[in-house]
Amino acid sequence: MALLLFVLIHFAAAAAAESSRSPATALFVLGDSTVSCASSILPLNLTAPSLSSAGPCLFPSGRRLLPDLLAAKMGLPPPPLISTLNGTAAAAARGVNFGGQYGDRGIFRMGAVGQQLRLAAETLQLLQLETGTPQDAPSAAAAAGAVFVLSFGTDAYARLLARGPAEAAAAAPKHGRRGLGRLLADRIARAVAELYEAEVRRVAVMGVAPLGCAPRVMWEAGGGRGCVEEANELIEGYNARLAARLEDLRPQLPGADVVFCDVYKGMMEIISNPRRHGLEESREACCGVGPFKATVGCLSTEMACAAPERHVWWDLYTPTDAVAALVANWSWSSPPPATSSGSGDSDVMGICSPMSLQQLAAGSPPPA
Ligand SMILES: *[C@@H]1O[C@H](CO)[C@@H](O)[C@H](O)[C@H]1NC(C)=O
Ligand SMILES: *[C@@H]1O[C@H](CO)[C@@H](O)[C@H](O)[C@H]1NC(C)=O
Ligand SMILES: *[C@@H]1O[C@H](CO)[C@@H](O)[C@H](O)[C@H]1NC(C)=O
Repeated sequence: MALLLFVLIHFAAAAAAESSRSPATALFVLGDSTVSCASSILPLNLTAPSLSSAGPCLFPSGRRLLPDLLAAKMGLPPPPLISTLNGTAAAAARGVNFGGQYGDRGIFRMGAVGQQLRLAAETLQLLQLETGTPQDAPSAAAAAGAVFVLSFGTDAYARLLARGPAEAAAAAPKHGRRGLGRLLADRIARAVAELYEAEVRRVAVMGVAPLGCAPRVMWEAGGGRGCVEEANELIEGYNARLAARLEDLRPQLPGADVVFCDVYKGMMEIISNPRRHGLEESREACCGVGPFKATVGCLSTEMACAAPERHVWWDLYTPTDAVAALVANWSWSSPPPATSSGSGDSDVMGICSPMSLQQLAAGSPPPA
């Protein structure tokens, strides 16, 4: 009897190790102002960075950024900002938001990726030291239940687009406007590989929204006629390159799930069909001053419009709560099965591939 029990347990454990994993027990987030109020999106005046830093953080509601929305879907608490932690493993055990930690002062702040990665690696080590037993594979226990979300690029592109072509070229002489996409996509792909080395097996990478349709860019470069195609093409180029780099990487990371979420596609659907999604105004920001409310960003909640939930954009470059919720929902859900008519009027769309974030966070990989 004892032997039988032993054999059964042994087989069950072997099967579990082979074919399943635990549901996500922690959400770790790295990124720019798309994930953290601690970082400012684009300062209007680059030498006075505090001016608009409050912009995206002046939302009427508290739960609007991607990390909190996704954590709620995973049944986890909102990941606390790294700057608020007390250095104990307990405080970091269910996830950490590393967003808004800037590694340098260059206009694209590429150093932020490396700095946040270092903090993440240290955090995983700390968790392993306090929770692991000597028999465990190094840091595997802490990393096994972790889902990582990376969301960079929006601030970099906002900065790039805010400067004229000449200024941007001068700021990045070696790269130019298109070079930034290459540089950033390569850096993000490298970050995913570095996380893999730290035993992380579940990573989602978010793309950049169509900032050519953001109020600031429409006002500044588009004369208000509509989305600035040149800006959107630049960002589409980056997103495509990023998706391709992740595709190349997957075969090199056995046992890992690396997901790309096409935020651009989701936002474009909303901008093109606002009414279908309960919105009305897709051009003018809710909070700001001037045409499109785009000359000065949101400095106080008194400047906000009466019905933010009807707007696509909150301020210069930031989508509203309503849009963030839609994008989070579409990242979470799988696309509906294609209908024979091929019509796309479903309210649900999936923007992540090769699996949804729900599947990424689930206990077992989806059937192949
Ligand atoms: C930006 O801010 C700095 C410091 O506040 C100020 O000296 C400078 O004139 C401003 N530049 C512009 C273009 O407004
Ligand atoms: C650190 O924070 C955690 C979680 O908030 C708490 O449980 C713990 O008591 C704190 N430890 C210290 C030493 O402050
Ligand atoms: C997102 O999904 C949640 C849960 O399914 C739902 O309650 C909410 O209304 C959705 N939000 C939007 C903006 O569609």
